[in-house]
Amino acid sequence: MPEPLLAVHDLSVVYETDRGPVTAVDGVQLTVREGEFAAVVGESGCGKSTLLFAIAGLLSPPARISTGSVRLRGADLVAMTERELNELRWRDYSVVLQSAMNALNPVATLAAQYKDAMAAHGTYTKEQIHDRSVEVLRLVGIDPVHLRSYPHQLSGGMRQRAMIAMALLLTPDLVIMDEPTSALDVVAQRSLMVQIKELQQLLGFAVVFVTHDMSLVSHFSDQLLVMYAGQVVEQGPTRPVFDQPSHPYSRGLLEAFPSIRGPRVPLRGIPGSPPDLAAPPSGCRFHPRCPLVFEPCDAVQPSLYAVGAVRSRCLLHTSAATEATS
Ligand SMILES: Nc1ncnc2c1ncn2[C@@H]1O[C@H](COP(=O)(O)OP(=O)(O)OP(=O)(O)O)[C@@H](O)[C@H]1O
Ligand SMILES: [Mg+2]
Repeated sequence: MPEPLLAVHDLSVVYETDRGPVTAVDGVQLTVREGEFAAVVGESGCGKSTLLFAIAGLLSPPARISTGSVRLRGADLVAMTERELNELRWRDYSVVLQSAMNALNPVATLAAQYKDAMAAHGTYTKEQIHDRSVEVLRLVGIDPVHLRSYPHQLSGGMRQRAMIAMALLLTPDLVIMDEPTSALDVVAQRSLMVQIKELQQLLGFAVVFVTHDMSLVSHFSDQLLVMYAGQVVEQGPTRPVFDQPSHPYSRGLLEAFPSIRGPRVPLRGIPGSPPDLAAPPSGCRFHPRCPLVFEPCDAVQPSLYAVGAVRSRCLLHTSAATEATS
């Protein structure tokens, strides 16, 4: 078996808080092959961004990786220095965040920002930089005249696409995206999603995509990872997870999608709200909200159990399944 593009092994992240350490990501395993689209879904506060920042080497105090490794083509990003990571960022992998307004420099034109990103990774002539900048803007459907624009002169959707274009400048193998569509209206969200998928198929990069909205990615992702309270509760190929979720939380998520804006509201399909990660419930972390809770759930911590092609962290599956080891 060739080395996968991305291999995340037993990754845990702790926030050091006044009230003690909070484990926001707990023992996550994730393998992404070349060109694969992996989606990470779950309610607000379940650790999606923390996981993604940990993979991308972007965590800063009070967060720290407490265990695990993140291998990109075999090289462990967790063990790298900031300088070594900077070498890889943009070139081997790039990151697109929720709000391009925060990621783009407000006082520099797109041309200037694209130039900086390219110049940091090699020696390119002015023409090469210009040509490549034009090319990536065209790829995302933006008129290259906007190379002279500042971020605030673009609409929200254009800014996100300009950010994606920047992420593609140096043809990375992996693009990591944290809710890149969530600041957009529903129609713009869909069209950006379709565009990301088209680009991915055209250029062949792999994607790790974080979202609240399982339905948004159901037709685009190869692999789904459902997170609850810092843990993966269900993981596997998208179709079986989406069509027949094996975990009660995944089922609840599908029945009602939380609002992407505004305050935390209970999901229609799942009463209550996610636990405080500083004091997670005993046993299964989901048991206080679970419609199928039964006797051992408040005492026994479930592992991930193999259920057909997927893995599910639910005691309902202990008898039928063997504990998944990897
Ligand atoms: N700066 C911080 N200090 C302490 N704890 C934090 C901090 N940031 C996040 N956390 C903890 O980590 C948990 C996960 O946060 P994270 O931002 O990764 O969730 P998320 O799934 O991305 O949520 P959202 O959907 O709202 O973006 C939070 O519930 C909180 O307990
Ligand atoms: Mg987040």
